[in-house]
Amino acid sequence: METESNKHNQTVNSNHRLAIFASGAGSNAAKIIDYFKHNTHITIALIVSNKKEAGVLKIAEQNNIPVLIIEKEQFFKGDAYINALNKSTITFIVLAGFLWKVPQQLITSFFNKIINIHPALLPKYGGKGMYGNFVHEAVIQNKEKESGITIHFVNEKYDDGKHIFQTTCNVDENDTPETLAKKIQLLEHQHFPEQIEKILTNNL
Ligand code: GRF
Repeated sequence: METESNKHNQTVNSNHRLAIFASGAGSNAAKIIDYFKHNTHITIALIVSNKKEAGVLKIAEQNNIPVLIIEKEQFFKGDAYINALNKSTITFIVLAGFLWKVPQQLITSFFNKIINIHPALLPKYGGKGMYGNFVHEAVIQNKEKESGITIHFVNEKYDDGKHIFQTTCNVDENDTPETLAKKIQLLEHQHFPEQIEKILTNNL
């Protein structure tokens, strides 16, 4: 089957094995998995989650993707699971709804190879505690006329790394955090997989 991703296969001349870190519903993970399903150079090799009950784990199971459940202590005070990631020969990490700060060791090990998606136009509405509906509530409270998504490299601070991609949507007077969340989710699903592919293609 011809997919969007297949069309670009010829521009990817090396192989990538992605780990998706996600602890929520996993709708972005699902879109990414689907997008790269038939890509012979980019494989979703591992789903990493700190929540045993996360929706993303079902998606991993349905797609036969191995799962790694991580624990706080080992993540922050141990080896940040670098050995496990290396064992799975992971080359790139995508955060999609992962709320823990990424430890320095992991950032150093995967320098410029960890990206995140944030549901607002950073640098506004980022940082600790700015996730999910908290973001959309703040945007509406401040009567912003637009919001959007930011895809960025991950550094040692929350939502602070170099921006890769942003796109916007209108915030209407009658928008609620829930209606805005829907608009943002649409943007995420529409752009995240494609942006990942672009980054990997440029990285090669
Ligand atoms: C997305 O809104 C993303 O921007 C944020 O966490 C959410 C994850 O949603 N970082 P899902 O689990 O992919 O549905």
